[in-house]
Amino acid sequence: MDHFNLKNGVLNAEDVSLSAIADAVGTPVFVYSQSTIERHARVFTEAVAGAGMGDPLVAFALKSNSNGAVLRVLAKAGLGADIVSGGELVRALHAGIAPEKIIFSGVGKTADELAQALDAGVGQINVESVEEAQMLAQIAVDKGVVAPIAFRINPDVDAGTHAKISTGKSENKFGIAYDLAPAAYALAREHSSLNAQGVAVHIGSQLTSLEPFAAAFAKIGTLIANLRAAGHTITTADLGGGLGVPYDPAHPLPPLPAAYGEMVRTATAGWNTRLIFEPGRLIIANAGILLSRVTRVKQEGNRTPFVIVDAAMNDLIRPSMYDAYHDIRAVNPDGARFSAHVVGPVCETGDTFAMDRDIDAVRAGDLLIFATAGAYAANMASTYNSRPLAPEVLVSGDKFAVVRKRLDVQTLIAAEDAAEWL
Ligand code: LLP
Repeated sequence: MDHFNLKNGVLNAEDVSLSAIADAVGTPVFVYSQSTIERHARVFTEAVAGAGMGDPLVAFALKSNSNGAVLRVLAKAGLGADIVSGGELVRALHAGIAPEKIIFSGVGKTADELAQALDAGVGQINVESVEEAQMLAQIAVDKGVVAPIAFRINPDVDAGTHAKISTGKSENKFGIAYDLAPAAYALAREHSSLNAQGVAVHIGSQLTSLEPFAAAFAKIGTLIANLRAAGHTITTADLGGGLGVPYDPAHPLPPLPAAYGEMVRTATAGWNTRLIFEPGRLIIANAGILLSRVTRVKQEGNRTPFVIVDAAMNDLIRPSMYDAYHDIRAVNPDGARFSAHVVGPVCETGDTFAMDRDIDAVRAGDLLIFATAGAYAANMASTYNSRPLAPEVLVSGDKFAVVRKRLDVQTLIAAEDAAEWL
Protein backbone atom coordinates (compact mmCIF):
# COMPACT_ATOMS: atom_id res chain seq x y z
CA MET A 1 0.00 0.00 0.00
CA ASP A 2 1.23 3.50 -0.77
CA HIS A 3 0.01 7.08 -0.51
CA PHE A 4 0.12 8.10 -4.18
CA ASN A 5 -3.53 8.50 -5.10
CA LEU A 6 -5.79 10.64 -7.27
CA LYS A 7 -7.45 13.51 -5.42
CA ASN A 8 -9.83 15.73 -7.39
CA GLY A 9 -8.44 14.23 -10.57
CA VAL A 10 -4.79 15.00 -9.74
CA LEU A 11 -2.22 12.49 -8.55
CA ASN A 12 -1.12 13.36 -5.03
CA ALA A 13 1.66 12.27 -2.73
CA GLU A 14 -0.28 12.09 0.54
CA ASP A 15 -2.06 15.48 0.57
CA VAL A 16 0.27 17.32 -1.79
CA SER A 17 -0.48 17.47 -5.49
CA LEU A 18 2.42 16.35 -7.63
CA SER A 19 1.84 19.26 -9.97
CA ALA A 20 2.49 21.63 -7.06
CA ILE A 21 5.80 19.86 -6.41
CA ALA A 22 6.71 20.02 -10.11
CA ASP A 23 5.92 23.76 -10.18
CA ALA A 24 7.97 24.44 -7.05
CA VAL A 25 10.95 22.16 -7.62
CA GLY A 26 10.99 21.38 -11.34
CA THR A 27 11.30 17.99 -12.99
CA PRO A 28 12.59 15.32 -12.97
CA VAL A 29 12.27 14.91 -9.22
CA PHE A 30 11.99 11.96 -6.83
CA VAL A 31 9.11 12.23 -4.37
CA TYR A 32 8.87 10.10 -1.20
CA SER A 33 5.86 9.61 1.06
CA GLN A 34 6.84 9.58 4.74
CA SER A 35 3.62 7.80 5.79
CA THR A 36 4.35 5.02 3.32
CA ILE A 37 7.91 4.61 4.60
CA GLU A 38 6.68 4.49 8.19
CA ARG A 39 3.93 2.06 7.30
CA HIS A 40 6.30 -0.34 5.53
CA ALA A 41 8.79 -0.20 8.42
CA ARG A 42 6.00 -0.99 10.87
CA VAL A 43 4.49 -3.78 8.77
CA PHE A 44 7.84 -5.54 8.34
CA THR A 45 8.83 -5.09 11.99
CA GLU A 46 5.47 -6.52 13.11
CA ALA A 47 5.73 -9.39 10.62
CA VAL A 48 8.99 -10.67 12.14
CA ALA A 49 8.23 -9.73 15.76
CA GLY A 50 8.58 -12.67 18.09
CA ALA A 51 10.80 -14.66 15.72
CA GLY A 52 14.13 -15.73 17.21
CA MET A 53 15.48 -14.69 20.62
CA GLY A 54 14.64 -11.21 21.85
CA ASP A 55 13.65 -8.47 19.42
CA PRO A 56 14.88 -8.98 15.86
CA LEU A 57 17.11 -6.27 14.41
CA VAL A 58 15.62 -4.83 11.24
CA ALA A 59 18.60 -3.24 9.50
CA PHE A 60 17.50 -1.17 6.50
CA ALA A 61 19.72 -1.80 3.44
CA LEU A 62 21.08 1.68 2.72
CA LYS A 63 22.05 0.71 -0.79
CA SER A 64 18.36 0.85 -1.72
CA ASN A 65 18.05 4.48 -0.62
CA SER A 66 20.54 6.47 1.43
CA ASN A 67 18.88 9.88 1.47
CA GLY A 68 19.47 11.44 4.91
CA ALA A 69 15.82 12.41 5.47
CA VAL A 70 14.63 8.90 4.57
CA LEU A 71 17.19 7.47 6.99
CA ARG A 72 16.02 9.79 9.75
CA VAL A 73 12.45 8.57 9.30
CA LEU A 74 13.66 4.98 9.56
CA ALA A 75 15.95 5.67 12.51
CA LYS A 76 12.98 7.17 14.35
CA ALA A 77 10.98 4.03 13.50
CA GLY A 78 13.68 2.05 15.34
CA LEU A 79 15.41 0.48 12.34
CA GLY A 80 19.12 -0.18 12.13
CA ALA A 81 21.24 -0.12 8.99
CA ASP A 82 22.79 -2.65 6.64
CA ILE A 83 25.74 -0.91 5.03
CA VAL A 84 28.25 -1.88 2.34
CA SER A 85 30.77 0.94 2.33
CA GLY A 86 32.52 3.49 4.48
CA GLY A 87 30.32 6.12 2.86
CA GLU A 88 27.16 4.33 3.95
CA LEU A 89 28.61 4.03 7.47
CA VAL A 90 29.05 7.80 7.64
CA ARG A 91 25.50 8.29 6.36
CA ALA A 92 23.97 5.83 8.85
CA LEU A 93 25.74 7.43 11.81
CA HIS A 94 24.89 10.91 10.53
CA ALA A 95 21.20 9.95 10.45
CA GLY A 96 21.38 9.00 14.11
CA ILE A 97 21.42 5.21 13.77
CA ALA A 98 23.18 3.68 16.78
CA PRO A 99 26.43 1.87 15.85
CA GLU A 100 25.32 -1.36 17.51
CA LYS A 101 22.37 -1.45 15.08
CA ILE A 102 24.69 -1.29 12.07
CA ILE A 103 25.61 -4.41 10.08
CA PHE A 104 28.52 -4.14 7.64
CA SER A 105 28.05 -6.39 4.59
CA GLY A 106 29.96 -6.56 1.32
CA VAL A 107 32.46 -8.70 -0.53
CA GLY A 108 35.17 -6.09 -1.00
CA LYS A 109 35.55 -4.13 2.24
CA THR A 110 38.92 -2.42 2.26
CA ALA A 111 41.30 -2.27 5.22
CA ASP A 112 40.36 1.37 5.72
CA GLU A 113 36.66 0.54 5.75
CA LEU A 114 37.15 -2.31 8.23
CA ALA A 115 39.16 0.01 10.49
CA GLN A 116 36.44 2.66 10.20
CA ALA A 117 33.79 0.08 11.20
CA LEU A 118 35.79 -1.05 14.24
CA ASP A 119 36.35 2.55 15.31
CA ALA A 120 32.61 3.23 15.03
CA GLY A 121 31.78 0.09 17.01
CA VAL A 122 29.34 -1.45 14.53
CA GLY A 123 27.19 -4.31 15.78
CA GLN A 124 28.39 -6.93 13.32
CA ILE A 125 30.67 -7.27 10.35
CA ASN A 126 29.46 -9.88 7.86
CA VAL A 127 32.68 -11.38 6.55
CA GLU A 128 32.58 -12.89 3.06
CA SER A 129 35.93 -14.72 2.76
CA VAL A 130 38.71 -16.17 4.90
CA GLU A 131 41.02 -13.56 3.36
CA GLU A 132 38.77 -10.81 4.71
CA ALA A 133 38.67 -12.54 8.13
CA GLN A 134 42.47 -12.59 8.25
CA MET A 135 42.71 -8.92 7.27
CA LEU A 136 40.10 -7.95 9.87
CA ALA A 137 41.77 -10.05 12.60
CA GLN A 138 45.03 -8.15 12.13
CA ILE A 139 43.33 -4.74 12.10
CA ALA A 140 41.45 -5.63 15.30
CA VAL A 141 44.70 -6.80 16.95
CA ASP A 142 46.36 -3.49 16.06
CA LYS A 143 43.46 -1.62 17.63
CA GLY A 144 43.25 -3.90 20.67
CA VAL A 145 39.59 -4.73 20.05
CA VAL A 146 37.54 -7.83 19.33
CA ALA A 147 35.56 -7.69 16.07
CA PRO A 148 32.00 -9.09 16.25
CA ILE A 149 31.57 -11.03 13.02
CA ALA A 150 29.27 -13.36 11.16
CA PHE A 151 30.36 -15.30 8.12
CA ARG A 152 28.10 -14.78 5.15
CA ILE A 153 27.38 -18.20 3.75
CA ASN A 154 26.61 -18.88 0.11
CA PRO A 155 23.98 -21.65 0.30
CA ASP A 156 23.96 -22.36 -3.45
CA VAL A 157 20.22 -21.76 -3.78
CA ASP A 158 18.59 -20.27 -6.86
CA ALA A 159 16.58 -17.22 -5.81
CA GLY A 160 14.57 -17.32 -9.04
CA THR A 161 15.09 -13.62 -9.68
CA HIS A 162 16.93 -11.58 -12.34
CA ALA A 163 20.47 -12.94 -12.87
CA LYS A 164 22.05 -9.57 -12.08
CA ILE A 165 20.51 -9.50 -8.60
CA SER A 166 20.90 -13.18 -7.66
CA THR A 167 23.57 -13.62 -5.02
CA GLY A 168 23.15 -17.07 -3.49
CA LYS A 169 24.39 -19.39 -6.24
CA SER A 170 27.82 -20.96 -5.94
CA GLU A 171 29.01 -19.15 -9.08
CA ASN A 172 28.16 -15.75 -7.53
CA LYS A 173 30.96 -13.80 -5.84
CA PHE A 174 29.16 -13.56 -2.51
CA GLY A 175 29.79 -15.36 0.75
CA ILE A 176 31.70 -18.46 1.77
CA ALA A 177 30.87 -21.74 0.06
CA TYR A 178 28.58 -23.79 2.25
CA ASP A 179 30.94 -26.74 2.51
CA LEU A 180 33.83 -24.49 3.52
CA ALA A 181 31.91 -22.74 6.29
CA PRO A 182 33.06 -25.03 9.15
CA ALA A 183 36.70 -24.35 8.23
CA ALA A 184 36.06 -20.59 8.26
CA TYR A 185 34.65 -20.75 11.81
CA ALA A 186 37.57 -22.93 12.90
CA LEU A 187 39.96 -20.32 11.52
CA ALA A 188 38.11 -17.50 13.31
CA ARG A 189 38.43 -19.39 16.60
CA GLU A 190 42.21 -19.23 16.26
CA HIS A 191 42.04 -15.42 16.29
CA SER A 192 41.27 -13.95 19.69
CA SER A 193 40.50 -10.63 17.95
CA LEU A 194 37.52 -12.20 16.16
CA ASN A 195 34.26 -13.19 17.79
CA ALA A 196 32.38 -15.30 15.24
CA GLN A 197 29.00 -14.73 16.86
CA GLY A 198 26.77 -15.26 13.88
CA VAL A 199 25.82 -16.69 10.52
CA ALA A 200 24.54 -14.54 7.63
CA VAL A 201 22.82 -15.29 4.34
CA HIS A 202 21.32 -13.20 1.55
CA ILE A 203 20.37 -14.95 -1.67
CA GLY A 204 19.13 -12.13 -3.87
CA SER A 205 16.70 -9.30 -4.35
CA GLN A 206 13.11 -8.96 -5.62
CA LEU A 207 12.21 -12.55 -4.71
CA THR A 208 8.58 -13.28 -5.54
CA SER A 209 8.37 -16.69 -3.89
CA LEU A 210 9.15 -17.83 -0.34
CA GLU A 211 10.53 -21.23 -1.33
CA PRO A 212 14.11 -20.13 -2.10
CA PHE A 213 14.27 -18.35 1.27
CA ALA A 214 13.00 -21.46 3.05
CA ALA A 215 15.53 -23.65 1.22
CA ALA A 216 18.40 -21.34 2.14
CA PHE A 217 17.30 -20.97 5.75
CA ALA A 218 17.01 -24.76 6.12
CA LYS A 219 20.67 -25.08 5.13
CA ILE A 220 21.62 -22.33 7.56
CA GLY A 221 19.75 -24.12 10.36
CA THR A 222 21.73 -27.29 9.69
CA LEU A 223 24.96 -25.31 9.63
CA ILE A 224 24.19 -23.63 12.97
CA ALA A 225 23.57 -27.05 14.55
CA ASN A 226 26.81 -28.40 13.11
CA LEU A 227 28.79 -25.39 14.27
CA ARG A 228 27.42 -25.73 17.79
CA ALA A 229 28.25 -29.42 17.79
CA ALA A 230 31.81 -28.38 16.94
CA GLY A 231 31.87 -26.10 19.98
CA HIS A 232 31.12 -22.70 18.41
CA THR A 233 28.83 -20.23 20.15
CA ILE A 234 26.38 -18.83 17.61
CA THR A 235 24.06 -16.12 18.91
CA THR A 236 22.91 -14.26 15.78
CA ALA A 237 21.47 -15.27 12.41
CA ASP A 238 21.22 -12.60 9.71
CA LEU A 239 18.65 -13.65 7.10
CA GLY A 240 19.37 -10.78 4.71
CA GLY A 241 16.78 -8.92 2.67
CA GLY A 242 15.29 -9.74 -0.69
CA LEU A 243 11.51 -9.88 -0.32
CA GLY A 244 10.00 -8.57 -3.56
CA VAL A 245 7.49 -5.78 -4.10
CA PRO A 246 4.76 -5.29 -6.70
CA TYR A 247 5.97 -3.36 -9.77
CA ASP A 248 3.57 -4.48 -12.48
CA PRO A 249 -0.10 -4.33 -11.48
CA ALA A 250 -0.80 -7.13 -13.97
CA HIS A 251 1.48 -9.56 -12.10
CA PRO A 252 0.46 -11.62 -9.06
CA LEU A 253 1.36 -9.92 -5.77
CA PRO A 254 4.60 -11.14 -4.16
CA PRO A 255 4.17 -12.79 -0.75
CA LEU A 256 3.19 -10.32 1.95
CA PRO A 257 5.54 -9.57 4.86
CA ALA A 258 3.20 -11.48 7.21
CA ALA A 259 3.63 -14.65 5.13
CA TYR A 260 7.40 -14.09 5.05
CA GLY A 261 7.36 -13.70 8.86
CA GLU A 262 5.44 -16.98 9.25
CA MET A 263 7.91 -18.78 7.01
CA VAL A 264 10.80 -17.34 9.06
CA ARG A 265 9.20 -18.45 12.34
CA THR A 266 8.84 -21.99 11.00
CA ALA A 267 12.29 -22.13 9.43
CA THR A 268 14.10 -20.78 12.50
CA ALA A 269 12.19 -22.62 15.23
CA GLY A 270 14.71 -23.96 17.74
CA TRP A 271 17.66 -21.93 16.44
CA ASN A 272 17.89 -19.91 19.66
CA THR A 273 19.57 -17.01 17.92
CA ARG A 274 18.73 -13.35 17.65
CA LEU A 275 17.52 -12.69 14.10
CA ILE A 276 18.69 -9.86 11.88
CA PHE A 277 16.95 -8.77 8.67
CA GLU A 278 18.24 -6.48 5.93
CA PRO A 279 15.22 -5.34 3.92
CA GLY A 280 15.71 -2.48 1.47
CA ARG A 281 13.29 -2.52 -1.44
CA LEU A 282 10.36 -3.69 0.67
CA ILE A 283 10.59 -0.63 2.88
CA ILE A 284 11.25 2.06 0.32
CA ALA A 285 10.42 1.02 -3.26
CA ASN A 286 6.72 1.82 -3.23
CA ALA A 287 7.25 4.86 -1.00
CA GLY A 288 8.83 6.77 -3.88
CA ILE A 289 8.07 7.87 -7.41
CA LEU A 290 9.98 9.65 -10.13
CA LEU A 291 8.02 12.67 -11.41
CA SER A 292 8.79 13.75 -14.93
CA ARG A 293 7.41 16.09 -17.58
CA VAL A 294 6.71 15.14 -21.18
CA THR A 295 9.03 17.19 -23.38
CA ARG A 296 7.35 16.20 -26.61
CA VAL A 297 5.42 13.39 -28.23
CA LYS A 298 7.07 12.31 -31.45
CA GLN A 299 4.42 11.01 -33.82
CA GLU A 300 5.48 9.71 -37.23
CA GLY A 301 2.51 8.83 -39.38
CA ASN A 302 0.51 6.05 -37.80
CA ARG A 303 3.49 4.48 -36.04
CA THR A 304 3.54 4.06 -32.27
CA PRO A 305 4.37 7.45 -30.75
CA PHE A 306 7.48 8.10 -28.70
CA VAL A 307 6.67 9.92 -25.47
CA ILE A 308 9.93 11.75 -24.76
CA VAL A 309 10.18 12.74 -21.10
CA ASP A 310 12.69 14.84 -19.17
CA ALA A 311 13.77 11.91 -16.97
CA ALA A 312 16.30 9.48 -18.38
CA MET A 313 18.29 6.34 -17.73
CA ASN A 314 20.73 8.38 -15.66
CA ASP A 315 17.88 9.10 -13.20
CA LEU A 316 16.28 5.63 -13.21
CA ILE A 317 18.60 2.97 -14.62
CA ARG A 318 16.50 -0.05 -13.66
CA PRO A 319 14.62 -0.50 -16.96
CA SER A 320 17.80 -0.36 -18.99
CA MET A 321 19.87 -2.42 -16.54
CA TYR A 322 17.44 -5.14 -15.47
CA ASP A 323 14.62 -4.78 -18.03
CA ALA A 324 12.63 -3.63 -15.03
CA TYR A 325 8.99 -2.63 -15.25
CA HIS A 326 7.89 0.65 -13.65
CA ASP A 327 4.24 1.57 -13.82
CA ILE A 328 3.65 4.85 -15.68
CA ARG A 329 0.75 7.12 -14.72
CA ALA A 330 -0.31 10.59 -15.77
CA VAL A 331 -0.56 13.18 -13.00
CA ASN A 332 -3.71 14.69 -14.59
CA PRO A 333 -5.33 11.72 -16.37
CA ASP A 334 -8.42 12.48 -18.45
CA GLY A 335 -9.44 8.87 -18.95
CA ALA A 336 -7.99 8.53 -22.47
CA ARG A 337 -5.26 5.95 -23.07
CA PHE A 338 -2.86 5.15 -25.88
CA SER A 339 -0.04 2.81 -26.69
CA ALA A 340 3.39 4.46 -26.67
CA HIS A 341 7.12 4.02 -26.30
CA VAL A 342 8.30 6.03 -23.30
CA VAL A 343 11.88 7.21 -23.61
CA GLY A 344 14.34 9.69 -22.18
CA PRO A 345 16.58 12.22 -23.95
CA VAL A 346 19.91 10.37 -23.49
CA CYS A 347 21.69 9.34 -26.66
CA GLU A 348 21.34 5.60 -26.18
CA THR A 349 18.61 3.27 -27.31
CA GLY A 350 18.81 1.76 -23.81
CA ASP A 351 17.36 5.00 -22.52
CA THR A 352 13.90 3.46 -22.79
CA PHE A 353 11.42 3.16 -19.95
CA ALA A 354 8.77 1.20 -21.82
CA MET A 355 7.98 -0.09 -25.31
CA ASP A 356 4.45 -0.49 -26.66
CA ARG A 357 3.00 0.33 -23.25
CA ASP A 358 -0.67 1.10 -22.80
CA ILE A 359 -0.59 4.29 -20.73
CA ASP A 360 -2.70 7.33 -19.90
CA ALA A 361 -2.72 9.51 -23.02
CA VAL A 362 -0.28 12.38 -22.45
CA ARG A 363 0.77 15.43 -24.45
CA ALA A 364 3.78 17.71 -24.43
CA GLY A 365 3.96 19.54 -21.12
CA ASP A 366 2.00 16.91 -19.16
CA LEU A 367 3.38 15.36 -16.00
CA LEU A 368 3.71 11.64 -15.46
CA ILE A 369 5.22 9.39 -12.84
CA PHE A 370 7.33 6.27 -12.80
CA ALA A 371 6.01 4.32 -9.84
CA THR A 372 7.95 2.17 -7.39
CA ALA A 373 11.03 4.38 -7.74
CA GLY A 374 11.96 4.73 -4.08
CA ALA A 375 14.51 1.91 -4.16
CA TYR A 376 17.64 1.59 -6.30
CA ALA A 377 16.74 4.74 -8.18
CA ALA A 378 17.97 8.09 -6.82
CA ASN A 379 21.14 6.53 -5.45
CA MET A 380 21.91 4.62 -8.63
CA ALA A 381 21.62 7.85 -10.61
CA SER A 382 24.54 9.36 -12.50
CA THR A 383 25.26 12.58 -14.29
CA TYR A 384 25.68 10.89 -17.67
CA ASN A 385 25.23 13.36 -20.54
CA SER A 386 26.05 16.07 -17.95
CA ARG A 387 22.53 15.90 -16.68
CA PRO A 388 21.97 17.31 -13.19
CA LEU A 389 21.21 14.81 -10.41
CA ALA A 390 17.46 14.96 -9.82
CA PRO A 391 16.39 16.40 -6.47
CA GLU A 392 14.53 14.44 -3.81
CA VAL A 393 11.41 15.65 -2.01
CA LEU A 394 9.86 14.22 1.17
CA VAL A 395 6.11 14.62 1.70
CA SER A 396 4.36 14.32 5.04
CA GLY A 397 0.63 15.04 5.05
CA ASP A 398 0.17 18.43 3.40
CA LYS A 399 3.84 19.45 3.80
CA PHE A 400 6.78 18.83 1.52
CA ALA A 401 10.48 19.58 1.74
CA VAL A 402 13.35 19.34 -0.72
CA VAL A 403 15.60 16.84 1.06
CA ARG A 404 18.27 16.86 -1.64
CA LYS A 405 18.59 19.75 -3.98
CA ARG A 406 19.26 19.38 -7.69
CA LEU A 407 23.00 18.97 -8.24
CA ASP A 408 23.58 21.08 -11.31
CA VAL A 409 26.37 21.15 -13.83
CA GLN A 410 28.09 24.12 -12.15
CA THR A 411 28.55 21.98 -9.01
CA LEU A 412 30.08 19.22 -11.12
CA ILE A 413 32.39 21.61 -12.94
CA ALA A 414 33.46 23.11 -9.61
CA ALA A 415 34.80 19.69 -8.55
CA GLU A 416 37.03 19.56 -11.65
CA ASP A 417 40.30 21.30 -12.28
CA ALA A 418 42.16 21.82 -15.50
CA ALA A 419 45.61 20.19 -15.49
CA GLU A 420 48.19 22.95 -14.94
CA TRP A 421 49.66 22.40 -18.42
CA LEU A 422 46.36 23.20 -20.15
N1 LLP B 1 21.50 -7.41 2.13
C1 LLP B 1 22.45 -7.61 1.21
C2 LLP B 1 23.70 -8.25 1.59
C3 LLP B 1 22.23 -7.19 -0.12
O1 LLP B 1 23.17 -7.40 -1.04
C4 LLP B 1 21.01 -6.56 -0.46
C5 LLP B 1 20.77 -6.09 -1.84
C6 LLP B 1 20.06 -6.35 0.55
C7 LLP B 1 20.33 -6.81 1.83
C8 LLP B 1 18.74 -5.68 0.28
O2 LLP B 1 17.97 -6.41 -0.58
P1 LLP B 1 16.45 -5.97 -0.86
O3 LLP B 1 15.66 -6.20 0.42
O4 LLP B 1 16.45 -4.54 -1.23
O5 LLP B 1 16.01 -6.85 -1.95
N2 LLP B 1 19.92 -2.57 -7.90
C9 LLP B 1 19.10 -3.75 -7.95
C10 LLP B 1 19.04 -4.46 -6.60
C11 LLP B 1 20.38 -4.81 -6.03
C12 LLP B 1 20.28 -5.51 -4.70
C13 LLP B 1 21.61 -5.66 -4.08
N3 LLP B 1 21.61 -6.23 -2.78
C14 LLP B 1 17.72 -3.40 -8.48
O6 LLP B 1 17.49 -2.24 -8.78
O7 LLP B 1 16.87 -4.26 -8.61
